[in-house]
Amino acid sequence: MKNIIVTGGAGFIGSNFVHYVVSNHPEVHVTVLDKLTYAGNKENLAGLPEDRVTLVVGDVADMALVDSLVEKTDAVVHYAAESHNDNSLRNPYPFVQTNLIGTYALIEACRKYNVRYHHVSTDEVYGDLPLREELPGNGEGIGEKFTDKTPYNPSSPYSATKAGSDLLVKAWVRSFSLQATLSNCSNNYGPYQHIEKFIPRQITNILSGIRPKLYGEGKNVRDWIHTEDHSSAVWTILTKGQIGETYLIGADGEKNNKEVIELLLELMGQSKDAYDHVMDRPGHDLRYAIDSSKLRNELGWTPSFTNFEEGLAETIAWYQENQQWWQAEKEAVEQLYAEQGQ
Ligand code: NAD
Ligand code: DAU
Repeated sequence: MKNIIVTGGAGFIGSNFVHYVVSNHPEVHVTVLDKLTYAGNKENLAGLPEDRVTLVVGDVADMALVDSLVEKTDAVVHYAAESHNDNSLRNPYPFVQTNLIGTYALIEACRKYNVRYHHVSTDEVYGDLPLREELPGNGEGIGEKFTDKTPYNPSSPYSATKAGSDLLVKAWVRSFSLQATLSNCSNNYGPYQHIEKFIPRQITNILSGIRPKLYGEGKNVRDWIHTEDHSSAVWTILTKGQIGETYLIGADGEKNNKEVIELLLELMGQSKDAYDHVMDRPGHDLRYAIDSSKLRNELGWTPSFTNFEEGLAETIAWYQENQQWWQAEKEAVEQLYAEQGQ
């Protein structure tokens, strides 16, 4: 694989993947296709060598553009999406357009030119799991975590459009022999994450003298993985995965939101209770948890960031050292949340 397209490569996880490929696979040239929405930022690719990375500013739903790029590539790794649940509750339309039509445009072009396609998806397509404390034996045993056999049951407009895009890919594999793999990953953290998301919102709140905001009681559990581990997993699947297969990516990082907010406050030298409870998210998923044994056993992948506290401390340092990256947007992001009582 010499030439790959990374859609959404100027966003959080996509740009981390581009950095990962440039650092670890010197033979590969990356074309980033990104619309540079509010979530995309050219700065995320700053400093990368021009002969290794080309940025094309455009829409994944622009079929003519997608066709012309896919014709010249060996593989497409599709990250571009509208990605924030809270935004999808305000206005679902861009989610339907980008996540469904955008995926359709890419898989049609990949089918036409027989190009390898990897579809980046989320654990949210499976809906949610009961909290461990509500399960017998604290949830140890069958049905404890998501696997690739778990039925789809998305809750929000965001996760419904991601589920729909997964199903398009699966149908294209079966009906048209599309050379595709899929991955469903849990919650990522790390550098370059937009400050609308939970962890960077709280870090930048504390750095701005604003109290962190916890939705509801904060019992909801997310299964945190460092974005660099997500990148190495996607590369492993792209190069070693079986066509037609779905791999779940996770690093055994279950934590409830209250624990995370308290840990952030502690790491940033504040009192553990210096946060506000705000209005809960409608339809808020309770718990996500990933069983990644298929990826580990069949493809030999393992995560490197196994200490969440250390990973979080590095992430805090990144937001401290890169205040110019987020400061201009902070007020507007908080204003939007404040309008919703959050
Ligand atoms: P993000 O919102 O930070 O970045 C999305 C990127 O896609 C931005 O650069 C944006 O400009 C671009 N984009 C949006 N619409 C576009 C369009 N129509 N055409 C071209 N580019 C467009 O998102 P993220 O958190 O980095 O997520 C990336 C992918 O990973 C998504 O597919 C998401 O569903 C998936 N995912 C995210 C997580 C997570 O924890 N954030 C976990 C699992 C899976
Ligand atoms: O599970 C993977 C998914 O993780 C991805 O598919 C999504 O793209 C990504 O945004 C993320 O979705 P979540 O909804 O889990 O992430 P978010 O950062 O928005 O919220 C994480 C948890 O924190 C969630 O339970 C809601 C809560 N929360 C969020 C914000 C922004 C708060 O308590 N306070 C907040 O201010």
